[in-house]
Amino acid sequence: LKKALLVRLFFVLLILYMCFCTGTQNVLSTTGNSEIQYNLTKEMYTGCEIVMGNLEITMMEHTRDFSFLQSIREVTGYILLAVNEFSRPPLDHLRVIRGTTLYENQYALAIMVNYQKDGQHGLQELGLTHLTEILEGGVKIIQNKYLSYAPKVNWLDIVKDGSAHIMIESNGPDSELEMSTNCHQLQLTKTVCAPQCNGRCFGRNPSECCHIECAGGCTGPLDTNCFACRNFNNSGSCAPQCPQTLIYNKHTFKLEPNPNAKYQYGSICVAQCPTNFLVDGSSCVSNCPSDKMEVEKNGVKRCEPCGGLCPKGVCLFSTAASIVNLKKYLHLIYILYEILMSSCITNLEILDSK
Ligand SMILES: *[C@@H]1O[C@H](CO)[C@@H](O)[C@H](O)[C@H]1NC(C)=O
Ligand SMILES: *[C@@H]1O[C@H](CO)[C@@H](O)[C@H](O)[C@H]1NC(C)=O
Repeated sequence: LKKALLVRLFFVLLILYMCFCTGTQNVLSTTGNSEIQYNLTKEMYTGCEIVMGNLEITMMEHTRDFSFLQSIREVTGYILLAVNEFSRPPLDHLRVIRGTTLYENQYALAIMVNYQKDGQHGLQELGLTHLTEILEGGVKIIQNKYLSYAPKVNWLDIVKDGSAHIMIESNGPDSELEMSTNCHQLQLTKTVCAPQCNGRCFGRNPSECCHIECAGGCTGPLDTNCFACRNFNNSGSCAPQCPQTLIYNKHTFKLEPNPNAKYQYGSICVAQCPTNFLVDGSSCVSNCPSDKMEVEKNGVKRCEPCGGLCPKGVCLFSTAASIVNLKKYLHLIYILYEILMSSCITNLEILDSK
């Protein structure tokens, strides 16, 4: 009994150590008064390290304490800070914005109109001291009356997509004057790396490049030294894919089940999909695609091809219709996913260690 308790405690601590939360999709609409909104925001992000969705903070007074944002290391969607009065968002540990969803369909980081209408409060600092990578989408920083150094950040260095739009306009008065000084210049980003390095390094020498699977920088050359992973995190090393379910046996010329297979769950490899998720091939999905149906095998829920017509109720759309309705359908899946993931703590670590 004692051992079981210790094991449990260990897992609880592990879960608390690496916390996930879902983020929001409100854009500029609020769900109630500012106090309720603040309480909800605080509840959602306290202890959160990876926001699986968007981080949106809007219409907050200067008196609110946002220190709970300190824990966030990664945001998979976009960040929107709009119509707030605080002077500095404490996102000091944020390293990567993935931009899997974009604000106004093009921005991974949008910071807009953050000042008090009839007062002297407002955004003065970006506080994004460790942001080194925006994987998709651009940056929009406009009409922050008291923010004076945004243009000095080398955004082209942080934004990975060369064609992404960068819009820095109508911010604080000194912004144009101080453009040449590099007070907020981030260290060891693309501009100081040796040309061999593919843009990320931990020193200036050609031998000090980050591993190709790293995102946001690294502390050394290995795939285990990355700040974040470009593709998948497989128990701490960054990999282009998770260990596949079938592996090729050179001697028998056959594909054989891989005993160490893992499933992709967001950008993480897990040995088992979380509760409420289904196994579809090598991924954890919240719903089966329209040509597959849900079956339970050995206690694991999977999506299997229907073999002809899918039973009614399982397939919502015919294949042709589903292509037309894909966007709507994805949105539904996303809402479902948000509901299922609405608790900040998942049992991911337990799953991974199994
Ligand atoms: C917000 O949280 C504070 C502190 O937990 C509490 O005192 C207050 O009543 C909450 N406000 C609302 C509107 O829920
Ligand atoms: C990968 O996940 C582990 C937990 O499984 C975490 O401790 C580590 O920081 C993650 N690594 C990266 C690069 O995100």
